[in-house]
Amino acid sequence: MSTCKTALLGGTFNPPHNVHVDMVKFALEQLHFDRVLVFPAADPPHKDVAEKVSAQVRLELTRLAFEGIPGVEVSDFELRRKGKSYTYETLRLLHEQQGEGEISLLMGQDMLETTPQWYRGEDLLRETPIVVFPRPQLEGEQRDEELSSLVEHLQSAYRARIIVAGFPMQDVSSTELREQIRKGPLPRTVPAKVLREVLAKGLYGVRFDVSRGRTEREAELITLLSKRLSEKRLHHSIAVMEEMERLAQRYGLDVARARIAGLVHDCTKDETFENQLRLCEEFGIIISDLERYSPKLLHAITGAAYARVRFGLKDEEALGAIRYHTTARANMTLFEALLYLADYVEPLRAFEGVEQVRRLVDDRLEEALLTALDATIGELVELGSLIHPDTLAARNSILMQSIKENCHAV
Ligand SMILES: [Fe+2]
Ligand SMILES: [Fe+2]
Repeated sequence: MSTCKTALLGGTFNPPHNVHVDMVKFALEQLHFDRVLVFPAADPPHKDVAEKVSAQVRLELTRLAFEGIPGVEVSDFELRRKGKSYTYETLRLLHEQQGEGEISLLMGQDMLETTPQWYRGEDLLRETPIVVFPRPQLEGEQRDEELSSLVEHLQSAYRARIIVAGFPMQDVSSTELREQIRKGPLPRTVPAKVLREVLAKGLYGVRFDVSRGRTEREAELITLLSKRLSEKRLHHSIAVMEEMERLAQRYGLDVARARIAGLVHDCTKDETFENQLRLCEEFGIIISDLERYSPKLLHAITGAAYARVRFGLKDEEALGAIRYHTTARANMTLFEALLYLADYVEPLRAFEGVEQVRRLVDDRLEEALLTALDATIGELVELGSLIHPDTLAARNSILMQSIKENCHAV
């Protein structure tokens, strides 16, 4: 263990978020640390832990955030210690435990500025290599120089060994994240597994019930849906409603209509196959053979009809978007495309590949759609499942469009 190159990331992790994960991945992949120890603090010396989330719970959330990343150890080391968690003391105890191997500290620029004032901060600077993640550059700001002069000062005053990571640390305020969790829309910058646990435990005052509705109509629909859907599905529906709001704002769609479509899109998803067929009969829907043998597709068809008849939804565009939210179709309207994608990327989704689409959805809508459709088709092929012709037509129409555009460009 003594030759192992180790880094340590401490913090309150209240909640852990993607910037923490990105910093750690950067240290492992780009700076070639063998392992990163992540230490949620028990009782931070500089501030009280907001919202009274216990250290044990923050530890659990942090474990979820880093789950499956090789080389990361989320440790309860600080929790098992008595009294204040001073970084200097933590490092001393760790060194006692593991012998000669060097341990570097990972921290953001803000923290580096205050390090000399920490408990035995000057000794810490003398003894411990530091990797600092710069603040993101804002146009016209001189932050690079600010950081360089800080690093120079610490080097000359304490012979500090500081590496500046070539990876800016995005500004994420934990206070804002907690606020977003409480009031919506759920933040995309917190890993889905963490958000799910936050919801399951009701942390930060989050409630996924009628209080999430912004209008009486939304609250009424949430009440109706809560009687029809499992808790998990209701959470997903509310998350899609909020994701629709974000996408509607981004792409200039009416926010109120977008939210309603997101909220009710899965209104029949928890019905049994027999009930789906019964609903088709009741609403006079004729389904194809393929649809009959692909039960997962039926809820989009029955859902649109159910929303129209039982919920009195008259917004034809919204109903169309619900109808095609599972298969997609050729030449989708913006509304249809946004619901398809909101359903795919809402912040509680944790499946493989979702991050790729999340990164595209705000700026490259067609690429996001194509990526999602490709992944879906690939998965269906792998499973040996039927593929609905509308899904293939959706993919072809997007590709065709881009081929035509390229031809014109030539
Ligand atoms: Fe669905
Ligand atoms: Fe859905």
